[in-house]
Amino acid sequence: MNRAIVRFSTDFEIGVVAPTLFGSFVEHMGRGVYGGIYDPGPLADASGFRLDVVALIRELGVTAVRYPGGNFVSAYDWEDGVGPLDERPKRLDLAWKTVEPNTVGVVEYLEWCALVGVEPILAFNLGTRGIDAARSLFEYVNGSPGTRWADLRVSHGHPEPFGVRYWCLGNEMDGPWQIGQKPAQEYAGIAREVAKALKLIDPDCVLIACGSSHERMPTFGEWERIVLEESYPYVDYISLHAYYEPDPANPAVYLESAYSMDRFIRGVVATADSVGARLGSTKRIQLAFDEWNIFDPRRFGPAPDAWVPTGSPISEGVFDATDAVVVGDLMVTLLNNCDRVGIAALAQLVNGIAPIMTSPDSAWRQTIFHPFARLSAAAGGTVLRPRIAAPELPSERFEAVPSVSIAAVLLASGEELLVTGANRSLESAVAVEVAVAGFGIASTSSPVVIEARDADGIRPLEASVVEGRLLVELPPASWFAVSLAEDAAGA
Ligand code: AHR
Repeated sequence: MNRAIVRFSTDFEIGVVAPTLFGSFVEHMGRGVYGGIYDPGPLADASGFRLDVVALIRELGVTAVRYPGGNFVSAYDWEDGVGPLDERPKRLDLAWKTVEPNTVGVVEYLEWCALVGVEPILAFNLGTRGIDAARSLFEYVNGSPGTRWADLRVSHGHPEPFGVRYWCLGNEMDGPWQIGQKPAQEYAGIAREVAKALKLIDPDCVLIACGSSHERMPTFGEWERIVLEESYPYVDYISLHAYYEPDPANPAVYLESAYSMDRFIRGVVATADSVGARLGSTKRIQLAFDEWNIFDPRRFGPAPDAWVPTGSPISEGVFDATDAVVVGDLMVTLLNNCDRVGIAALAQLVNGIAPIMTSPDSAWRQTIFHPFARLSAAAGGTVLRPRIAAPELPSERFEAVPSVSIAAVLLASGEELLVTGANRSLESAVAVEVAVAGFGIASTSSPVVIEARDADGIRPLEASVVEGRLLVELPPASWFAVSLAEDAAGA
């Protein structure tokens, strides 16, 4: 059995976990909206929102939801989705090869966010549209009555501005699959001008520029540099997207996903900070990992290549226990980078590549629901910096990969320490010993583990405290979480 010795100190913090780190994503894709969050019938409220889905989203602990895309947004005319329902046009959705009925639009989404209790994150169409559509949408959503677009919202029954803070400047604009794909310099100019206009309206709005669609894009790095050189004074975040894929021929590589995510984050931080240094700016650009998940094309793909009826399933695979282990480990990486990653969104939320699934008469949890639900309690907490002595794993892609990951979060109450981590070794169990200077561990509660080879999913883990140290044994390829209480005397 491997051994891992882990030390934390309450004096050494990485940062505070922004609540928006536990975001998710609802796109007009497949049954994400129609048949997902919106499904009029016996399980829905008077507005057509599925209440069983709302209950599961709350249980999951999602704090923020990005909308309406994704690929969908790059050809979306937001005006189609507001006003009287019987006057809304049906439109072709070129991203997912279907007809968009526009029954759900920006107002329904914002009402739904209020119902669920999540922070909205709205995306602009910078594929087929630009500054005018962005500023009119911004005014429609946030403007005080007395101007054209704000008054249109008032006439639609919403006198009060919605006060949306977070806005994405397009989606994956480097991707050849995107409607309105642009070279870096062209996107950078549009992003800069849209951001400049929005900051004139509201200097406090939070703007997220598109980074690369994924780190294997040929322009990765260069794209971020050009976009940030152009827009640095006006934007607050740069986005990252990643879907980690199992390789049945090489399962060890899949368990490296969280390490790979960590390197991706560090690469974007380095690029952003080098632009800031060259510009002589004291401002620090933050990262929005606003699409992340597992995606196995064998189970979830491909997207339709023929036209499909509205609300047809897309990417509705079933996640397994290994996926849940990897998702838990990816969340460990997000927590340990909370000083730079202020927004993250598990993509997606309902039905397509999602932790929550629906049928007409029920809703259920996928395996990846469990690590997210457990760790979302960390919102607002303080992450401590780990020091880990543990074996490394040989790797085909990297020089070596730490066999154990770990994060500790002092919850906002100050009385509970949430410890979570993963054993990435496929062969060896690991005995983990954790001590925290400044936090004398008295007892554990709700220790749980997810083991890749255990089809039953999440189960209790044996955890003990010996002389103020936490001891757990992790099976091969597993993720765990445990809550620790402090003894009255401290440490
Ligand atoms: O989440 C599915 C799709 O993946 C999104 O629409 C797009 O942004 C990404 O490529």
